[in-house]
Amino acid sequence: MTTRSHAARAAAACLVAAVSLCAQGSPAAASGQAGIEAPLVSDAVFKNVQILKGIPVDEFMDAMGMFSASLGFDCVSCHTGGIYTNRGAFAEATPLIQRARQMIVMTTTINKNYFGGQPRVSCFTCHHAKNRPEFIPSLALQYGELVEDPNSMQIFPDQRTTVDKVFERYLQALGGPERLAALASFTARGTYEGFNTGGNQFPVEIAARAPNQRTQVVRTPDGNAVKTFDGTSAWAAEGWRPLPLLALTGGNLETARLEALVSFPANIRQAFTNWQVSSTTIDGRVVQLAQGSNPGQPPVNFYFDESGLLTRIVRWNRTAVGTVPIQIAYSEYRPVAGVQMPFRTVITWTDGQNTFALTEIQPNVALDAARFARPAPFKSK
Ligand code: HEC
Ligand code: HEC
Repeated sequence: MTTRSHAARAAAACLVAAVSLCAQGSPAAASGQAGIEAPLVSDAVFKNVQILKGIPVDEFMDAMGMFSASLGFDCVSCHTGGIYTNRGAFAEATPLIQRARQMIVMTTTINKNYFGGQPRVSCFTCHHAKNRPEFIPSLALQYGELVEDPNSMQIFPDQRTTVDKVFERYLQALGGPERLAALASFTARGTYEGFNTGGNQFPVEIAARAPNQRTQVVRTPDGNAVKTFDGTSAWAAEGWRPLPLLALTGGNLETARLEALVSFPANIRQAFTNWQVSSTTIDGRVVQLAQGSNPGQPPVNFYFDESGLLTRIVRWNRTAVGTVPIQIAYSEYRPVAGVQMPFRTVITWTDGQNTFALTEIQPNVALDAARFARPAPFKSK
């Protein structure tokens, strides 16, 4: 059944089509206003949730990303084509949705009965980006070359170097601790292109204030899409989301925190209590890998290239149906007030890929606290 299999990068194509609908005010969009303080849960927002009840809306969407990535599917592989014109159509049952519901129950049961409730088995364990899992071992795989995935959570610590050395080199490559300390804020402009822009580029403005506040506004034709982290909480007021204002939770909150943290890199090392260092290869080049972790959280992988600069971050979101990865790649470093800053950022996750290409960064701009406050719900033009 290869016709149903699509590249994971196309996973969110259906959302693109649904964007304009949300703008017209779907039932879910209308109910969003009430849930601003406590994040609304899946079955309070969606119409036909039978299994994945009581989880935050952003985690529910990550679960959809898990399904798409695990089966090599697009949203519309399971959902009806109706989603292109009507967001409500996500609630319509199809044979594959029914099958997927059974699979959620099966996977949960396996974990409960045989792995003490630990999430050891996920959709990906069997499916490996195919709708019909292979059940015959592959000789090509058995005798072929072992391919190492640089994004693996499991790392093999290298005793020859230390986390101090890696970060010392990183801070030097950036311009040195003094110049970094002098960078208290910045604003940036550029373009955004993503899974929801249909190949177009929209203007983006970013503002960040040390140590850990960051906001971005994408000027879409439909309205201003805002994502903000105020140092503690994060919100998304973006037209493509299931709600006009979504409080980010769990791993999505941690990703927002991380994006803000990396804006002022002098603080990265202190932000994690435990570090391990290793090395791996990305595109045939050896990179240094530092993995930071905090109790009760999945770790975060930081990759440094031969110049010592940060080239990639990988972190993970836990969901009710397993763990999904998020990769952030940084490139095109240029000096701003003597500090090397990445002008290009590519964020890849199971629901899509977003590219931010900056054209200018203004250092040390006065920014008031209101810039980082909870945004108003997304309003369609
Ligand atoms: C493998 C099949 C599969 C794929 C692929 C999939 N979904 Fe789903 N989707 C489901 C199932 C199953 C449910 C119902 C879950 C439940 O009953 O707990 C669901 C429910 C939903 C709902 C709730 C609808 C409602 O109102 O009740 C939304 C929204 C949704 N999916 C969006 C998406 C998006 C966006 C994508 C692509 C990123 C996607 N889905 C990909 C299987 C899938
Ligand atoms: C223990 C292994 C295993 C796990 C875990 C698993 N699946 Fe499956 N899945 C299968 C097998 C086997 C089939 C049947 C393939 C066939 O009919 O040839 C299947 C079929 C499916 C199908 C039907 C595909 C089609 O095109 O007919 C869907 C949808 C599906 N699984 C979704 C999921 C989802 C979502 C998860 C995670 C919640 C999951 N599966 C977890 C083994 C698994």
